[in-house]
Amino acid sequence: MKLVILGGTGLIGSYLSKNLVKKGYQITVLSRWKEGTEGSIKYVRWNPETIGGWLEVLANQDGIVNLVGESIMGYWSNAKKIAIYQSRVGITQKIVKALEKLEDKRPNFLIQASAVGIYGDRGEELLTENSHSGTDFLANLAKEWEKAGMTATNYGIRVVIIRTGIVLAKDGGFIANLLPITKIVRKVPVIGKGSNFIPWIDIEDEIRAIEFLISNRDMDGIFNLSAPNPVTVSELSKLIAKTITGKERIFHIPSSIVKLILGDLGKAILASQRVIPKRLLEAGFAFKYPTCESSITHLLT
Ligand SMILES: NC(=O)c1ccc[n+]([C@@H]2O[C@H](COP(=O)([O-])OP(=O)(O)OC[C@H]3O[C@@H](n4cnc5c(N)ncnc54)[C@H](OP(=O)(O)O)[C@@H]3O)[C@@H](O)[C@H]2O)c1
Repeated sequence: MKLVILGGTGLIGSYLSKNLVKKGYQITVLSRWKEGTEGSIKYVRWNPETIGGWLEVLANQDGIVNLVGESIMGYWSNAKKIAIYQSRVGITQKIVKALEKLEDKRPNFLIQASAVGIYGDRGEELLTENSHSGTDFLANLAKEWEKAGMTATNYGIRVVIIRTGIVLAKDGGFIANLLPITKIVRKVPVIGKGSNFIPWIDIEDEIRAIEFLISNRDMDGIFNLSAPNPVTVSELSKLIAKTITGKERIFHIPSSIVKLILGDLGKAILASQRVIPKRLLEAGFAFKYPTCESSITHLLT
């Protein structure tokens, strides 16, 4: 199968491309800076702001996976918010425009990134793909992002929206951010009380779920990509602490300080989302790491 991964140099994309290549997929990655060949993965430079030579790269492929997105980490100034929005909504619109232009050379499917941030801050409510969305910045962003991706259905393309939770991996994202400080102070930092639910997913299951959705051609629409057992931030942090230090030791950083340093990102980090991957479970997808104990053990021991 021939696949192009846009934004394939990031945390999810690099795991995905390496994994799919091993399974015999022909992978091309579009990147703003990387080019050449690494193993059997081909990297092609693109400027996602304008439709250029990369249009031809998308031609006659079986599918494309769009993982493009400016990191949401850092202080949310107006300029940062615009970059977060433009790299998701603006570039997805551009990609769909390119797909329209391809006419009879269009791919069969588009796997389109989105995030569980679409649900907003929802306390202990169980959230499935049918739950209504939130109203904050990340929720509105995700709504526009998904809408832009879904437009590709107008051109006969199967669209799968992957609403991903916080990806747990050894070398990137949530865990990698915690490790340095935890190793020094022998405690895991928790922002606020830590009573908010975190919709996490092990990187291996994230990749397995994407491949599942690629292979099952009758599947389309929205899928939550998060483990079936969401836990609170405190529970997850205590588990990480116990695995690294032998003791469930955490320390709390007052949420007011985090909001001061990170602006609206601070509020977003404190949001509670108790997400269930209802559609994946109904489709028969079996999580390899359904509990955070199984995921943390495999990642950190
Ligand atoms: N990781 C998570 O926990 C998580 C959770 C929910 C949703 N997601 C979403 O899933 C997608 C992939 O996540 P990830 O963790 O793999 O992200 P990542 O590591 O930050 O990688 C994102 C990729 O997007 C490209 N990119 C970044 N900023 C860009 C910009 N301004 N314009 C064009 N391209 C840009 C980069 O490719 P080049 O630098 O090579 O061009 C990069 O490889 C993102 O859209 C993210 O929002 C991730």
